[in-house]
Amino acid sequence: SKGEYRHYMLKEIFEQPKVIEAALEGRLSASSVLVESFGPDAQALFQKTRQVHIIACGTSYHAGLVARYWLERYAGVPVQVEVASEYRYRHPVVPEGTLFVTLSQSGETADTLAALRFAQTLNYVGSLAICNVPGSSLVRESDMSLMTRAGPEIGVASTKAFTTQLIALMLLTLAVSKAKGQADYPDIVAALRTLPDVCQRVLALDSQIETLSQAFAEKNHALFLGRGAHYPIALEGALKLKEISYIHAEAYPAGELKHGPLALVDSEMPVISVAPNDDLLEKLKSNLQEVRARGGQLFVFADKEVGISPEDDIRVLELPYVHEALAPLLYTLPLQLLSYHVAVLKGTDVDQPRNLAKSVTVE
Ligand code: F6R
Repeated sequence: SKGEYRHYMLKEIFEQPKVIEAALEGRLSASSVLVESFGPDAQALFQKTRQVHIIACGTSYHAGLVARYWLERYAGVPVQVEVASEYRYRHPVVPEGTLFVTLSQSGETADTLAALRFAQTLNYVGSLAICNVPGSSLVRESDMSLMTRAGPEIGVASTKAFTTQLIALMLLTLAVSKAKGQADYPDIVAALRTLPDVCQRVLALDSQIETLSQAFAEKNHALFLGRGAHYPIALEGALKLKEISYIHAEAYPAGELKHGPLALVDSEMPVISVAPNDDLLEKLKSNLQEVRARGGQLFVFADKEVGISPEDDIRVLELPYVHEALAPLLYTLPLQLLSYHVAVLKGTDVDQPRNLAKSVTVE
C-alpha cells in the first residue's frame, strides 16, 4: 500500500535509503567487496574478464551508462553499453574475454531477454543478470545473477530500481577490480556504507525541490546537462520528466551544448545542471555561463564547494558532500523528486503515465 504517501512513486523514492542498505547487506567485508556475492563462479569469471558489454532498456540502460565510467576508471576494463533493441539486430564483434551483462528491473523485458539469448550464441565468457525479480526469465537464463533487492516497484517510472542497480554496478566494478588483483578501494566501500544516511539528507530537501518545481509547471521544454558519469544522470532526469509530466526534455553532455542545442536556449528554456564538485566542474561552469548569456533559466544541483551562487537567473539546490564515485547515485534523487512534483502540479497520472506499461514484454 501507499501508506502515508500520495503516490507509489513518492513512496518508492523515499524507500531508497532502506533499499540501498538492503542491496549492500552481506556483500561487503570490512574494506572490500565480497566477490562471491555474484556466485561461486564469479572469481574465476571476473579474473578472465577483459571487457564488458552491458545491455538494457530505458532507465536500466542509463544505469549501464554510469557503469561504463565506473568500470573503466576503477577496474580498468573497457565497456560497451547499448540498448537491447539495437544490440539484438546488430552483428556484434565479441573480443576474447568479454563478459555479457544485462540490467533489468523486471527481468522480463522482451528485447533484453532476446539480447541475452542472442548473446548465448556468441563468444562471451559468461553472462550476468542484475535484476530486481528473483526467478525472472533473465535470472533463470543467465550464468550468474545479482539481485538488486529494491522490493516491488509499482510506479511505472522507475526510481528505486535504478539506484539499487547503481549499487549493484558499483559492487560489480569493485568485484572485477578485486578479482583481477587490482585495487580494493576501501574509500569507496566506506562511502557506500554512509550512502543511506546521505540519501536521507537529500530526501529532506524535498520541500525545497517542490518549490523549484513550480518554475516548470508551465514549461513545454527542458534541457538537462551533465558531464562524465553525470551525463547519464541528466539522461535519466530528462526521461523521468518526459514520462510523468509529459514535458519535452532532452539531456546533453554539457560539452555538446555549443554544437547545436544552445540554439534552443532562451528565457523560456529551463536548464537543469547536475554539477557535483569533481574535476569536470570548471568546464561545466563555463557551459553554464553560455546558458546564462542567452537568458536561459538555470537550475543547478551542486554541493557546497562548487561556488556557484544563486542570483536572479540561477537557482542552486545544495546537496550534501559524497565521495565522487557515488555522486551520480545521490544526484539522481533530486531529479526524481523534481519530476514528481512537476507532474503533481500538472495533474498527470504519476503512477500510471499514459501509453506506458511497467514491464515491456512485447517487442
Ligand atoms: C522508465 C522505465 C523504463 C524501464 C524499461 C526497462 O522509468 O521504467 O524505461 O526502465 O522499460 O525495464 P526493465 O528494467 O524492467 O527491463
